[in-house]
Amino acid sequence: MTLLQSRPPLPSDDKRWKLVNATMRRNGYAGHALIETLHSVQDAFGFLDETAMRFVAGSLDLSLSKVFGVATFYHLFMLKPKGRHACVVCTGTACYIKGAGGLVDAIQERFAVGPGETTEDNRLSVLIARCVGACGLAPAVVLDGAMQGKQTAQQLMTRLERLD
Ligand code: FES
Repeated sequence: MTLLQSRPPLPSDDKRWKLVNATMRRNGYAGHALIETLHSVQDAFGFLDETAMRFVAGSLDLSLSKVFGVATFYHLFMLKPKGRHACVVCTGTACYIKGAGGLVDAIQERFAVGPGETTEDNRLSVLIARCVGACGLAPAVVLDGAMQGKQTAQQLMTRLERLD
């Protein structure tokens, strides 16, 4: 990549994109940072969607098909879940200490669905992130893209039950 190459703007003001961008910057936006960058997307968002893959491809000056190929080849990466709703539970250190494990257990018990899985009716997909950039709000959950901080199992179950 030349210095003159322009990089795409962050897809939104969601600060998780800054975490992803920091990984790429630390690697000089070099193509070899692809796998590390995809890990950082998954750690922050819980999964890889097309927006993320386009952003990473543009930033690292790689083709979208290359990024998509790597993302689908490695089973470690979760592609965008198929459920109508996506609940990403952060189990990073701060959230774990504040009870994220209990949130995962409560979801499993109530909806019979574990991390990386989708309910049979395709209503809800559950994912795990390693830090969603809101440690001060631990335990944090991102429900359909909206940050929900300081969640108790009771609060989260109420939110999830209300989904259509
Ligand atoms: S560890 Fe959960 S938001 Fe940082």
